[in-house]
Amino acid sequence: MGNCLNFLSSNVKSENARVSDNASRSSSGSLPTPRTESEILSSRSLKAFTFNELKTATRNFRPDSLVGEGGFGYVFKGWIDSQTFTASKPGLGMVVAVKKLKPEGSQGHKEWLTEVNYLGQLHHPNLVKLIGYCLDGGHRLLVYEFMPRGSLENHLFRRGPQPLSWATRIKVAITAAKGLTFLHDPERQVIYRDVKASNILLDLEFNAKLSDFGLAKAGPTGDKTHVSTRVIGTQGYAAPEYIATGRLSAKADIYSFGVVLLELLSGRPAFDSSKPSTEQNLVDWAKPFLGDKRKLFRIMDSKLEGQYPKKVAYAFAILALQCISNDPRKRPCMSEVLPVLEQLQDPKNADKILQNVRVKSITGKKSPMGHNALPHRSAPSSSSLQQTPDASPLRRTPPRSPIRQTPGGSPFRQTPGGSPLRQTPSGSPLRRTPGGSPLPSNRQSPSMH
Ligand SMILES: Nc1ncnc2c1ncn2[C@@H]1O[C@H](COP(=O)(O)OP(=O)(O)O)[C@@H](O)[C@H]1O
Ligand SMILES: [Mg+2]
Repeated sequence: MGNCLNFLSSNVKSENARVSDNASRSSSGSLPTPRTESEILSSRSLKAFTFNELKTATRNFRPDSLVGEGGFGYVFKGWIDSQTFTASKPGLGMVVAVKKLKPEGSQGHKEWLTEVNYLGQLHHPNLVKLIGYCLDGGHRLLVYEFMPRGSLENHLFRRGPQPLSWATRIKVAITAAKGLTFLHDPERQVIYRDVKASNILLDLEFNAKLSDFGLAKAGPTGDKTHVSTRVIGTQGYAAPEYIATGRLSAKADIYSFGVVLLELLSGRPAFDSSKPSTEQNLVDWAKPFLGDKRKLFRIMDSKLEGQYPKKVAYAFAILALQCISNDPRKRPCMSEVLPVLEQLQDPKNADKILQNVRVKSITGKKSPMGHNALPHRSAPSSSSLQQTPDASPLRRTPPRSPIRQTPGGSPFRQTPGGSPLRQTPSGSPLRRTPGGSPLPSNRQSPSMH
């Protein structure tokens, strides 16, 4: 894997660099960290809104303006004047999404500030644009560009929208990969830590933009391979070594990205508590089929109705398999994943990509994707790693029942939606979020292609 393995550590990052509010500098140079709260909030690229302005913009957070819900907050549609950014009448000016923090105490504030910090500095066509924020009388809100087709989760798993075609799935994978490649670039070295379908938003043309930067974290500096941190993430998406040890590297994002690739292939969510126990975890269920061309069709999304190029789907599955390798060193890095996905847009390239995999399997030589490991069907189950007793594993909870459990003595909270999970180390609260907002069916925003 060469430079790929160490790409996060190859560039020493200046921990104490001066803060710059200049968007062009910050999007091309490494991010200055840490910054104080007042430095973060004084970003010139962000507008500070009053609570009343956002109340007006969303018509008092009317329930019928609700477009989504995550663990952090409720997201409403609103309108602001595109010149002055003051609230405007519904239907006039610029459409925005306003995320209103649920009252959750200090952890919520930390995530809110982290999001302002990163999105105030990072600018890329495949990251959602943060327009401003509000910190007013205990209210914390964020104002983003509105993404008219909502989240990938809504398209893949909810009834209603027309199923995504194969070509659109590849497009979503490529554009999301571009966002992640930008974050992982040695100049930025940001670990996103929350790659999942509910955080991948779609514009009218189904270009993906990553949103929800509340868990983002600076990657390791110097010659370190990881940062040690509390385990926080989402059930079904979190990398096994991170769950087991709290050691975080960009390879944890690659694992989660691989899970999203599996979701695109199969149309099934990363974790589905309504399924029999052996099928609940998507990785565990799908893994045995990914490396076998003759079995792959068994896990393909039936909503595709067989309308996909078989070899391309197989190469896509092999890529996903490499991303979800239990050994982080065997996962490719984003700068390797992105070109493979781009090549897969043209079915003629599938043979070439598969050939590389086969050559590797015969000679043991690295593939262009930087792997020594072959796709194999007997990889240890990720669930076996998730069950390590003392390492603050993500635990699953029964669906849709607000309960408290105690993994390692820590309170564990579940909110509606039944899927994702945010977790903190033993002894601290374990948070389960509604991953992405079951939209009320009558408000399902995305119109379909
Ligand atoms: N900019 C946006 N445009 C349209 N919908 C959005 C936007 N931001 C968020 N949403 C919707 O709200 C949901 C929750 O948003 P998210 O930022 O992930 O919140 P949380 O931090 O609470 O997880 C998303 O899954 C999506 O459905
Ligand atoms: Mg979210």
